[in-house]
Amino acid sequence: MTPPDAAPDEHTWQAMCAAALRARTHAHAPYSGFTVGAALLDEHGEIHAGCNVENAAYPQGLCAEAVALGGLVSSSGRRVRAALVLGVAKQPVTPCGGCRQKLREFAGDALPVWSADERGITAKHTLGELLPASFGPDHLEST
Ligand code: THU
Repeated sequence: MTPPDAAPDEHTWQAMCAAALRARTHAHAPYSGFTVGAALLDEHGEIHAGCNVENAAYPQGLCAEAVALGGLVSSSGRRVRAALVLGVAKQPVTPCGGCRQKLREFAGDALPVWSADERGITAKHTLGELLPASFGPDHLEST
């Protein structure tokens, strides 16, 4: 049986890319014009996608990863096994600092966080590389 934290196979990454690409078409990004799609794999093997949702009150906007994470938790997911962020830029689109921390709540350093554009994978990181020496739920456990 596949362990709950095992990295996904090629087919799953492709499905995550497709889900992120599809979600990105629904992005509400009239202010930045920068559309993003995200896909998260949970411990049940389910993929949750999201897009960025901007707001006229700019700070109230949501990143694609945050939207996807809300869907994952609302569907009973409690672990993120893999994350994919899809956007078109001169350099790979990686999660913003806030989203790195949001992912940390449901994953550890080994979480694969891949970037993609419309043509395929552009970068491969782990959460530990993107958010070293992070603060997580374990810090709140009593000693
Ligand atoms: N954005 C995301 O949705 N995810 C990222 O990883 C990077 C940035 C969004 C936020 C905002 O709507 C737009 O991209 C420009 O920053």
